[in-house]
Amino acid sequence: MRLADRVAIVTGGARGIGRAIALGYAREGAHVVVADQDGATAERTAAEVRALGRRGLAVAVDVAQRAQVETLVERVVQELGRLDVMVSNAGISLPHDFLDTPEELWDRTIGVNLKGVFLCGQAAARQMVRQGGGGAIVNTASQRVESGDPRGVPYVASKGGVRSLTKAMALALAPYGIRVNAIGPGPTLTDLNRERMADPATRARFVDRVPLGRLGDPEDMVGAAVFLASDEARFVTGHTLYVDGGWLAG
Ligand SMILES: NC(=O)c1ccc[n+]([C@@H]2O[C@H](COP(=O)([O-])OP(=O)(O)OC[C@H]3O[C@@H](n4cnc5c(N)ncnc54)[C@H](O)[C@@H]3O)[C@@H](O)[C@H]2O)c1
Repeated sequence: MRLADRVAIVTGGARGIGRAIALGYAREGAHVVVADQDGATAERTAAEVRALGRRGLAVAVDVAQRAQVETLVERVVQELGRLDVMVSNAGISLPHDFLDTPEELWDRTIGVNLKGVFLCGQAAARQMVRQGGGGAIVNTASQRVESGDPRGVPYVASKGGVRSLTKAMALALAPYGIRVNAIGPGPTLTDLNRERMADPATRARFVDRVPLGRLGDPEDMVGAAVFLASDEARFVTGHTLYVDGGWLAG
């Protein structure tokens, strides 16, 4: 097993891509903390982790709130003893016409998708340094970093920020042996976009741009997220690994 006895936090781990990563990590031997603003659903995913024979803990947290993120890391250390992997995956997408995009939508999107990744990465890294260094941080960016989206300007800006933050944090944390990478999912069917994708024309427009001919499934993201957290990626840092069915090759 590639993550045997590691302690990992997965933010946004209650459902979708985060849930798939949480369960994928547990299958690889990790103990997983499911950190999500939806505490009830996080508890269900944590129970699935426990059913795989690992320790699974649910913590209700808003990743945009520094005090809550710090409490999260403190609680993980109290209950599980250490922290080896932080997956900063929680994110929101609120498509809107650019000319009418309200300032509040910009602030909320940047707050969760970018500031949240900063806060979680910083709190995790401080703990990893206290432990003597080493560890891995895996952020969730998006294939939209490279391809844009006219109806998702704050979202694309936040994810571009995640890519840059990943590089800068990788440099800041390399002296401590902490690696920082990101995955960049392509269009992946989750609750984030299920309503939008229910429209056959919209779905076809997305699928047409994916050379492998389908939308992604949350399970498709697990291999990359396991790799980046594992020792197999011991010489990989500052990288964004796009998992997009070939969209960006087109
Ligand atoms: N689905 C896609 O097509 C796609 C593509 C590229 C990138 N992504 C990114 O992948 C990540 C996961 O997305 P998903 O599709 O699984 O979405 P999802 O909506 O199914 O899951 C997101 C989870 O994050 C949680 N969350 C939201 N805001 C939070 C906050 N402030 N604090 C804590 N938890 C919070 C939600 O409760 C939910 O459980 C996001 O960062 C998203 O931007 C998704």
